[in-house]
Parts: sequence; structure tokens; C-alpha cells
Amino acid sequence: MVLVITMDLPYSNHLIPPGAPFRLLTHLFLFLYSTIMVFFQAPAPSTVAARNTDDLRALLSIKAHLYSSESSSLWGSENQTMHYCKWLGVKCGSPQHPRRVTSLDLDSLNLTGQISPDIGNLIFLQKLNLSGNQLHGYIPQEFGRLSNLQFLILMDNAFEGTIPIGLANCSNLMLLCLDGNKLVGEIPVELGSLSKLSALLLARNNLTGVIPPSLGNLSSLIGIDLSENNLRGQIPSSLGGLVRLKYFTVTSNRLTGEIPSSFLNISSLCEFYVGDNQLSGVLPSNMGNMLPRLQVLQAFSNQFDGPIPISLPNASRLEQIVLCNNQFSGPVPRNIGMLRNLASVSLCNNLLEAKQDEDWKFLTSLANCSNLKTLALSDNMLAGVLPSSIAELSTQLAWLGLGGNQIKGNIPVEIGRYINLNRLLMGRMLLTGVIPATIGKLQKLQILHLNENQFTGALPSSVGDLTQLLELHLDQNSLQGGIPSSFKNLQKLELLDLSHNKLDGSLPKEITDLASLTRYLNLSHNSLIGPLPSEVGKLNNLGTLDVSENKLSGEIPGTLSECQVLQYLYMQGNNFQGVIPTSLSSSNSITVLDLSRNNLSGSIPESFEDCQHLQLLNLSFNDLDGRVPNAGIFLNASLVSVIGNHKLCGQNHELDLHTCPNQEFKKSQESRRVVITIGIVIPLVIVFLCAIRLRKPRNKISLPLHPLDGSYQKTTFAELARATDGFSMANLIGGGSFGCVYKGVVNFEPKEVAIKVLHHHRREALKIFQAECKILRSIRHRNLLKILTACSSLDHNGDVFLALVTEFMPNGSLDKWLHPRVDGEEVSYRLTLLQRMNIAIDVASALDYLHHYSGTPIVHCDLKPSNILLDKDMVAHVCDFGLAKFLMRPSYGDSSPATSHTIGIKGSIGYVAPGDHLFL
Ligand SMILES: *[C@@H]1O[C@H](CO)[C@@H](O)[C@H](O)[C@H]1NC(C)=O
Ligand SMILES: *[C@@H]1O[C@H](CO)[C@@H](O)[C@H](O)[C@H]1NC(C)=O
Ligand SMILES: *[C@@H]1O[C@H](CO)[C@@H](O)[C@H](O)[C@H]1NC(C)=O
Ligand SMILES: *[C@@H]1O[C@H](CO)[C@@H](O)[C@H](O)[C@H]1NC(C)=O
Ligand SMILES: *[C@@H]1O[C@H](CO)[C@@H](O)[C@H](O)[C@H]1NC(C)=O
Ligand SMILES: *[C@@H]1O[C@H](CO)[C@@H](O)[C@H](O)[C@H]1NC(C)=O
Ligand SMILES: *[C@@H]1O[C@H](CO)[C@@H](O)[C@H](O)[C@H]1NC(C)=O
Repeated sequence: MVLVITMDLPYSNHLIPPGAPFRLLTHLFLFLYSTIMVFFQAPAPSTVAARNTDDLRALLSIKAHLYSSESSSLWGSENQTMHYCKWLGVKCGSPQHPRRVTSLDLDSLNLTGQISPDIGNLIFLQKLNLSGNQLHGYIPQEFGRLSNLQFLILMDNAFEGTIPIGLANCSNLMLLCLDGNKLVGEIPVELGSLSKLSALLLARNNLTGVIPPSLGNLSSLIGIDLSENNLRGQIPSSLGGLVRLKYFTVTSNRLTGEIPSSFLNISSLCEFYVGDNQLSGVLPSNMGNMLPRLQVLQAFSNQFDGPIPISLPNASRLEQIVLCNNQFSGPVPRNIGMLRNLASVSLCNNLLEAKQDEDWKFLTSLANCSNLKTLALSDNMLAGVLPSSIAELSTQLAWLGLGGNQIKGNIPVEIGRYINLNRLLMGRMLLTGVIPATIGKLQKLQILHLNENQFTGALPSSVGDLTQLLELHLDQNSLQGGIPSSFKNLQKLELLDLSHNKLDGSLPKEITDLASLTRYLNLSHNSLIGPLPSEVGKLNNLGTLDVSENKLSGEIPGTLSECQVLQYLYMQGNNFQGVIPTSLSSSNSITVLDLSRNNLSGSIPESFEDCQHLQLLNLSFNDLDGRVPNAGIFLNASLVSVIGNHKLCGQNHELDLHTCPNQEFKKSQESRRVVITIGIVIPLVIVFLCAIRLRKPRNKISLPLHPLDGSYQKTTFAELARATDGFSMANLIGGGSFGCVYKGVVNFEPKEVAIKVLHHHRREALKIFQAECKILRSIRHRNLLKILTACSSLDHNGDVFLALVTEFMPNGSLDKWLHPRVDGEEVSYRLTLLQRMNIAIDVASALDYLHHYSGTPIVHCDLKPSNILLDKDMVAHVCDFGLAKFLMRPSYGDSSPATSHTIGIKGSIGYVAPGDHLFL
């Protein structure tokens, strides 16, 4: 029967004297047992002696329905020879009827089963206590026959069904305790006839409906506990007739409306618990005068408004005032300190005001309350300078909450007086100055909130003396200097937030040594320098680590993977270097990983693909290179960000990646307007190329240093990478079996150029490259694509990189004009007869040149519309000489007269692809 509310609020916490029901029951038992002799009545004399075997039969029936989980069952066989009056928990009656059962006390025997209806035959029963077992089933109607029953205690079992109406017949009932079962339905109106009932305890069930007004007829009632049910409606005004009522508890129901004024007129009322309902209205201003015996006023989490009753300080016995989470307004009564017994003043989350110094007098008056343990005023509208009297309260104080007000000023050094303080909540205010070093004297402090103020100066190293600290919130101030190494003493700290300050210096390994940190460690938005100590791996119970937006450098410690429950890791906006440790990517716990805006290099570990829990991976704005994995999380572009890494490539176009140079190009949205198509696109080849892992030829082949001759502009991988924005998808304009073509702007050419990157993993790539270079070097004609330069070098991965840089042909390939796609291109490609004629002449001139005027005759071997490009004036240019051959003059003794440069790959046979000769 202990009130359990798990919210971390000042009224639900061990700092408050135990909740109502506990006190209630203790008081009631004391009261009732002291009066038991008065109420004890001998059973009716008639026919009693003749029928006392009924009790044995009833007990055996009860036994048969119960199961004890102990080894010996209840009333085991060896004891049955004994008279039942001596059985465990059985008591027999008055001198006149010594053999009739008057009391059955079987509490906490770990019994299961149900109550036998035969219990109705124990007609002399006065007390039945079955509490603390695991009994289930219905409460039998037969209880109605127990007219002598005074105490019925069935609490903490699993009884189901409704409260039997028959109980109304137990006219001697003083205590009805059905707390903590699974009872449903409404409270029977008939219970209102139990004129001797002192305590009605129905808490922690699932009762519905309203509080029956008939309960107002229970004129003997001292205590009523209906908390933690689903009761609706209003508190009936008839309850104002309960002139003996001391304890009233309806916490955690769905009661609505105002508290009837007749009810707040019950001068006997001591403890009043109505928290966590939907009650509303204004509490009467004379309440304190009407309830002179009030000790507990709990009305938290309702919709009360208006002022706190001005007369409350007249209820001189008040110990607890718990009104959090309402809309109480106006000032706190100034003379509240008249209540010398006050232990708890919890007024948090209301609209209480302090506009002038007068309004703060309540604080001064509270200095007289030597038992004050809780002062919770957070989240109100208290304004002004924090009075120095804040440090003059009782040293018993365990909870001091002021956060979320508009309070200015400094924390006085005298705060160190509160040696019993457990919580100091002063976040979200306008406090300035330094955090006094005396704070270190609060040796029992567990939770410290000073966040979101304007504190300046250094973090006092005495904070390290707060060895009981569980939570330290100092974020969003202007604290300077380093993190004191004394923090190593905070061996119980579960949460540390120092973010959004101006802290500098290195991150002391004392912090990462705090193995107690389990919830989060947030050091973000400071100016911390140096590395993240590898001891960070000792934080193996930490859930969130945020060191983002600092100036940390060095490598990401691989030991982070030892943080076995780390779910959120934020390291963005630092200067971390080196590679992403593969151990990190194989973490089983990481859900969100942000490494963006650092200086990380190397490739993305493939094991990220297998990270089961990963939901967000941000690697953007680093210097990563290589291939982005293409499985797991990488398939979902909304969960991965890799932008701003110009050297990355990969298949997932949604990630804004350009195709890896060694990877087949796939047509995509961006490439729809392909301008240049080179080579033959064979889907099978693409699939094949994508499937095989890259075999790195590395430095096994010797690269031609100057693939063209010295008269051509020299260029480098870096230059071409820059020109194409890291070979980005946006610049990709075509592709084929031998490579990809990008457009770009190079520094040595005013106009846009086309950059054809050969797939270097093809064994023949270098040969093709060299052949093409050789041919292009020796030819020049207005209808041939002009080579600007070539590049053969190693890329950042040390892989072979081969590229040809040519003029850029804005009108794309003839192929596109002859076979326009029907996939929604807005431009309709249509050649006029004149254009067709001109193109034919252009191509013919080019071939004529190649065959007859270029020195050694050259055979193109792969002439087809996709290898004929059109410039902005629709002039045709023949391109792609990868399969071309020099046609040597036949010489005697040469067995293969017509070939000199055989590349080994046959292009299309003949000059024009079948069908395309009709293009004219
Ligand atoms: C049974 O009787 C023995 C003594 O005869 C006693 O010690 C024991 O507690 C009894 N058990 C019960 C369940 O009453
Ligand atoms: C209270 O009892 C009186 C008679 O004793 C009865 O007339 C009245 O209806 C009862 N009130 C309620 C609300 O049940
Ligand atoms: C309060 O109680 C007094 C006497 O005990 C009575 O005269 C008065 O009417 C009651 N007020 C209300 C609102 O019930
Ligand atoms: C408090 O009680 C005193 C004495 O009974 C009375 O004079 C005073 O008016 C009361 N205060 C309020 C605010 O009701
Ligand atoms: C507090 O106590 C002092 C001395 O006992 C007394 O003078 C003062 O009036 C009291 N203040 C309040 C608000 O009760
Ligand atoms: C990034 O890291 C590289 C070494 O990996 C280093 O040379 C460079 O200076 C770093 N950049 C910055 C801005 O620190
Ligand atoms: C990734 O990081 C960048 C830079 O820090 C940021 O702008 C972006 O919003 C982040 N993306 C996601 C999905 O978190």
C-alpha cells in the first residue's frame, strides 16, 4: 500500500515522508485493534454447539481450494489429528463457544488457489486476513453470510471480478481492505450501508465508474483509499458528511470537477491526497481555517488554478504542501513559514509569481521551518534577484529546486551549508557570476543542475568532491578553462553534460576513466583540444558520447568499440584524422554515428554494411576515398551521408557518388542527357564488372610517363579529379565497356572538356590507351575529335589511372539523334535532310583523311553512330580510336600484311553498324 509514482518529482521521492496509504493503514490498525475489544461480540448463542462440525468442513473445503507452494501443504495431514482450533492461522472464539472459528489469519503464506464459497459457513468469523498471497478467482458472494465479520483483508492478491454486493450484509464490517487486486466494475452503492465501516481501502485495482454518493452515509469512516483506479466523475458532495474522516486518498484516478466546498469543511481531515486527477477550480481561500488538522495536502498534477489559499498558514499542523503541475498563480503566501512542521513545499510547474521583493518574503519566513526537507519551486514565473535567504533555510534541506524561473543574481557561497542536500536544481535561469567553490561541501548531492545560466569563470575543482553525484548538468553556460582532473573522484557519475561552454584544454583521461558513466557524456560545443584518450574504451556502459564541435584531433581511438552499449556517438565538427577504425564499424550497439566535418581519410570500412543497429551514418565532409560499400545501410540514402568526400565513388547514385573508375556505368536519371557515349554498352559486361572485385594491377605495369608527346599540356589525377568535382555523378556524361566519360573544366583550357577515364582493371586497358594515344598524336582533322591531353598515373588509392582529355561536344552522339529515346526527353532530336547530308560528308571526310592523308593509313574499326559526336554547330567528329589500327603497307616476308597494331579485341565488323547505314 505504498504510493508509487515513478516520475522524478519532489513528491514521488524518498525525500518525502512515506505516502498516504502507508500512514493510513498503520494508523487504522492501531486505531482498530485498540477498539477491537469494544466491538468484540459473542456469537449468537442458539444451536451453536450442535453445528460446530460445520467449521471443520468449511476449513477442509478452504484447504482443498488452496495450494501452498511450501513443501508441506496448508494444514498438512499430520496436523489433522490436531483440533482445527490449533491449526496454523486459525483462532477459535469466545469462552461460550470455544470451538467456533473467529479468526483466520493466513497472510503472506505464498498460497495460490481460490477462496472456497464454504467460507460462508464460518458464521462466527470476525477476522479474515488472506493478504499477500497469490489467490485468484472471484470474491465469493457467500461472504454476505458472515454477519460477524469485522475485518476483511484480502489485499495484494490477484482477485478478479467485481466487489460482491453481498459484502453489504456484513453489517459489522469495520475494515474492508481489497487493495492491490484485479477487481473491476463499480464500487457497489450498497457499501453505503456499512454503518460501522471505519476504513474502505480499494486502491490499486481497476475499478471504474464514480465514487458512490452513498459512501457519504458511512458515518464511522475514518479513512478511504481509492487511489490508482479508473474512477471518474466528481467527488460527491455527500462525502462532506463524513465527520470522522481523517484520511482521504484518491490519487491517480480520472476524477473531474471541483472539490465540493462541503468536503473541504471536514474539520477532522488530516491527510488529503487528490494528486494525478483532472480536478479543477480554485481552492477556497479559507481552506486553512476550515481544516485545522490538515497535515498533508497533495493535489499535484491536476488543473487547479487561482491563488494558493491565503489561509493555508493557519492550518498549523501542515507538513506537506504538494501542488506541483497545476496552474496556481499569484505569489506564495508570505507567512508560509508559520507552519513550523513543514517538511515539504512542492509548488513546481505552476504560474506562481514573484515580481517584487515582497513576493520573496515567503522564502525568508521558511527559514523558521527547521524540518524543511523539500523546497521545489521550479518552472514558475518567479523573477528578480535570488534572495540571500536562499541560503538560510534548514540544513535538513535535501531538495532545493528553483530551475526554470527568471531569477537573476549569484549563487551565494553560503549554499555550502546544506550538507544534507541531495538535489540542487538551478538550471534554466539567469544566474551569473562564478559557481562558488563551496558547492563542494554538499557531500550528499546526487543531482546538480546549473545548466542554461550565464555562469562564467572556471569550473571549480571542488565539484570533484561531490562523490555521490549521479548527474551533473553544467551545459549552456560560459564556463572557461579546463575540465578539472578532480572529476576523477566522481565515481558514481552516470551523466555528465558540460556542453556549450567555453572549456578548453585537453580532454582529461580522468573523464574517460569514469566507468560509472552510463547515460551520457556530453562535452560538445567547447574548445577542447588534443586527442580523445584511448581510455574512452573504459566507458563500457555508456549509451551516448558527444564530443562534437570541439577542436579535438588525432585518430579516432579503436577502443571505442569496447564501449559495448554505446548507441549514439557524435564526433562531428572536430579535426580527427586518420582512418575510421574497422573495430568501430563492427560495433554491435551503435545506432547513430556522426563523424562528419573532420579530416578522416582512407576508405569506408565495409563492415558498416553489417552493423545491425545502425540507423544513421554521417561521414560527410571528410577526406575519405575509395568505394562506398553497397549493402546494408548504404542502400538507404536517407540514412547515410557521404557528401563532401570528393574521392569517394560507388554505385548508389542517391548518395551523390560518381561511379568508381573501375566500375561499369549504369544509365541513371542524371545520365539521361548523355552527351557522349563511348564504346559498346553490354549489360552482361556491366553485371560482370560490377560483380567482380577489383583486382589491383598496382605498380606491376609500367606506365607511360608522357602518353602523348611533350607538346601536349601535362595534367595529373588531382587536377582531373578537381575538374570533375571528384568524378561526381553530376559530371558523368557517358560510359562504355572501356571507361566512363565526365565533363569538366580544366585550368589549361578555356572551354569545357570531356574526360574519358579508362577502366584500368581491364587487362587491355593500357594497351587500348596507348594505341589511342599513339593514333591521336599523329592525326589532326576538323572532323576528328581533338585530343587535348592524356593522363596516366596513380590515383589516391595507388591504382592505375588512365584518362584522355578531349574537346567537349555539346550535341552528343549521332546515335542519340538517330535513335531518340522515348522516355520523356523533352528535346526531340530530329535531323533535317541537310544536317544528315552534312554529317555524312563530315564522316566521309574524316575517313578519307584517316585512310589517305594521315601518313600511315588508319582503320577506325569501330565506326558507328555512338562514336560520331556533334559539336554545337552540328559538325560531326569521329572519336574513339581504341580499336583503330595503323594499316601498314604490305611488305614482303610479312605474313600478316594488313596489320601492325593488333589490339586483340575486335570492334564491330565493317564501318557502320547494321541498320545504321540507312541513317542518311
Ligand atoms: C504441524 O504440527 C507440528 C507439530 O505437531 C508443528 O510443528 C507444525 O508447525 C504443524 N504444521 C502446520 C502447518 O500447522
Ligand atoms: C443515506 O442513508 C439514508 C438513510 O439512513 C438514506 O435515506 C439515503 O438515501 C442514504 N444516502 C445515500 C446517498 O445512499
Ligand atoms: C461547514 O460546516 C459548518 C459546521 O460544521 C456548517 O455550518 C457549514 O454549513 C458547512 N459548510 C459547507 C459549505 O458545507
Ligand atoms: C488565521 O487565523 C487567525 C486566527 O484564527 C485569523 O484571525 C486570520 O484571519 C486567519 N487568516 C486567514 C488568512 O484566514
Ligand atoms: C521566525 O521566527 C522568528 C523568531 O522565532 C520570529 O521573530 C519571526 O517572526 C518568524 N517568522 C515567521 C515568518 O514566522
Ligand atoms: C588533414 O590531415 C592531413 C593528414 O592526413 C594533414 O596533412 C592535413 O593538414 C589535415 N588538415 C587539416 C585541416 O588539419
Ligand atoms: C551530416 O553532417 C552534415 C555536416 O555536419 C550535416 O550538415 C548534415 O545535416 C548531416 N546529415 C544527417 C543526415 O545527419
